[in-house]
Amino acid sequence: MPRNIEQLRAQYNSVASNKKQTGPQGPRGGGPGVRGASGKPKDAKKTLSRLVSYAKGYTGRIIAVLLCMVVSTVTSLIGGYMLAPVINKLTAAVAPEMAEKLSVLEERVGNYVGAFASGVLGSDGVFTYIVAAMIILGTVYLVGVATTYIQSRLMLSVSQGIIEKIRNDLFEKLQRLPVRYFDGHPTGEIMSRFTNDIDNIDVMINNSLTSLISGAVTLIGTLVFMISTSWILTLIVVAFFPIFAIGGAKIAGISRKHYVSQQAALGAVNGYMEETVTGQKVIKVFNHEDECIEEFGLLNDDMRDKQFKAQFWGGIVGPIMGNTSQITLAVTIGVGGILMINGLLGAGGLTVFSQYARQFSMPINQISQQMATVFAALAGAERVFEVMDTDPEAADREGALDPGEIKGDVRLDDVTFGYVPGKTVLKHISLYAKPGQKIAFVGSTGAGKTTVTNLLNRFYDIDEGRITIDGVDIKDIKRDVLRKNIAMVLQDTHLFTGTVMENIRYGRLDATDEEVIEAAKTASAHSFIMRLSDGYNTMLEGDGANLSQGQRQLLNIARAALSKAPILVLDEATSSVDTRTERHIEHGMDRLMKNRTTFVIAHRLSTVRNSNAIMVLEAGEIIERGSHEELLAMKGRYYELYTGKKELD
Ligand SMILES: Nc1ncnc2c1ncn2[C@@H]1O[C@H](COP(=O)(O)OP(=O)(O)OP(=O)(O)O)[C@@H](O)[C@H]1O
Ligand SMILES: [Mg+2]
Repeated sequence: MPRNIEQLRAQYNSVASNKKQTGPQGPRGGGPGVRGASGKPKDAKKTLSRLVSYAKGYTGRIIAVLLCMVVSTVTSLIGGYMLAPVINKLTAAVAPEMAEKLSVLEERVGNYVGAFASGVLGSDGVFTYIVAAMIILGTVYLVGVATTYIQSRLMLSVSQGIIEKIRNDLFEKLQRLPVRYFDGHPTGEIMSRFTNDIDNIDVMINNSLTSLISGAVTLIGTLVFMISTSWILTLIVVAFFPIFAIGGAKIAGISRKHYVSQQAALGAVNGYMEETVTGQKVIKVFNHEDECIEEFGLLNDDMRDKQFKAQFWGGIVGPIMGNTSQITLAVTIGVGGILMINGLLGAGGLTVFSQYARQFSMPINQISQQMATVFAALAGAERVFEVMDTDPEAADREGALDPGEIKGDVRLDDVTFGYVPGKTVLKHISLYAKPGQKIAFVGSTGAGKTTVTNLLNRFYDIDEGRITIDGVDIKDIKRDVLRKNIAMVLQDTHLFTGTVMENIRYGRLDATDEEVIEAAKTASAHSFIMRLSDGYNTMLEGDGANLSQGQRQLLNIARAALSKAPILVLDEATSSVDTRTERHIEHGMDRLMKNRTTFVIAHRLSTVRNSNAIMVLEAGEIIERGSHEELLAMKGRYYELYTGKKELD
């Protein structure tokens, strides 16, 4: 039964690009306020000031940018004005009495052009006058072009510098976050901070800030020019202004609302797409294609609807404003004509004024449109800073030490732990492993086996009790030293993009090629690697997608084999390997485990038989312990797991 549109929208909007989700079904816990270019910042002022703090060190360049912006805006205003003396000169040539009827500014600029024509070009003629005006105009525009060029280059260098720093800070922070953070946040949510959110900040710094500042300068500059050309006409334009402002804001508000829902619909479509692509095999296995097509249809329909509204309202602002400004223009020209007849304004003055009057509403539009981007960027910045403010993995304790050579005596003393407060996963676990011993954990799914290993290398810190290595509490050992001494084959394998050689060398970066090959042989990986197209130089892509599950595990074992750590943890290390290969590995594994304290977790009990001690975990408690024979003799849970028989009392 396909879900309805409300369910789909709610579920998929927040999980877009969440790589961990593979199947088309299952719960989808979306984090609050993730995704999309929408959203309102919670504390715009604080976020802005924090962003500004990133601009430190760019003060000189930013001042230069501002200066360039002012100069280029002013030059475009002056350039526009140069039309006035030219028109006035031409009108005066036809009707000499017009030469007297000019505003103060027109007269002054006209005199400058005249002085330039006669002084530099050496003639009083109309033609020379126009050439003089053109030369001035050209020079002014040239300055404008130059400053715009410098300004955009400088601004780019500032914005890219800031973005690079933010990206670096965020990545650095991610490397310092505890495992708990990654367990609690979907991959997609974290990724979208790197992509969407940072992109939004980039757009804001680069486009919006420039537009906002140049919009403001243009607005003020235009106003100054308008007032000095004719204050009466300026009053008329300003009187019309509230119509623009209110109307513009109204429409912008409507369009923003639709834009937000468009983004939400887009997020849902993307999320659904991604999940169907990653979960394609599962979809095929369960014949869910038709449901998927139907559900996608609903989402797609929804998106078309939202996009129509968003783009309609977004696109309508410009034309409406344009038409309204024509009314202002008509009134301006009418009143301007009367002023002209009365000698308060020349034809040139009226022409450039009508240009300015039209321009006047543009920066307002520009500013109101950019505000949406600015808010989206600030909301994005808030999400980025939120990650940066998350507590990193707790620093090493005061006086944490490097105990030097570790023999591998591991003790868990009455350890109690829960991932979330109030929900204990492990209860009063006590055990010891002497150096070189092999301890196995068996038990049903979800019993807490992996959790024990998570505690050993301090992915999580225990709530109660003590874990010691060679008698030292692991909380008193420097974390990097601790992890260097524990080689782990995790239950979920991961291979990085790179060659087979590089991937195995991840276990110990200073290992030679020979050592890597030796480790591969220990893990029984050598023969299959040699059969790969480029042997050890074969590139692995997408978490080793070009390998089989078992082959991936073998590479992970090789990685651990390369490490010289005295403690070894194997969590279902051979669960995907066939029994024959497993037996084959066993020999190598024995060598690997020799002289190392080893913790083995396996569902396949044949691999744990020869352990020094086997712990049977059930619901977070060790319910049975002993050697294989002892446990079988007990005829308890282990016996049940091993033989598949339940002993009747
Ligand atoms: N990151 C986590 N956050 C919260 N609870 C978790 C987390 N990881 C595991 N758990 C819970 O802790 C319990 C023990 O999980 P654990 O992974 O240790 O089981 P396991 O014995 O390794 O099982 P399996 O044999 O399936 O690997 C489970 O109930 C699980 O739901
Ligand atoms: Mg497990």
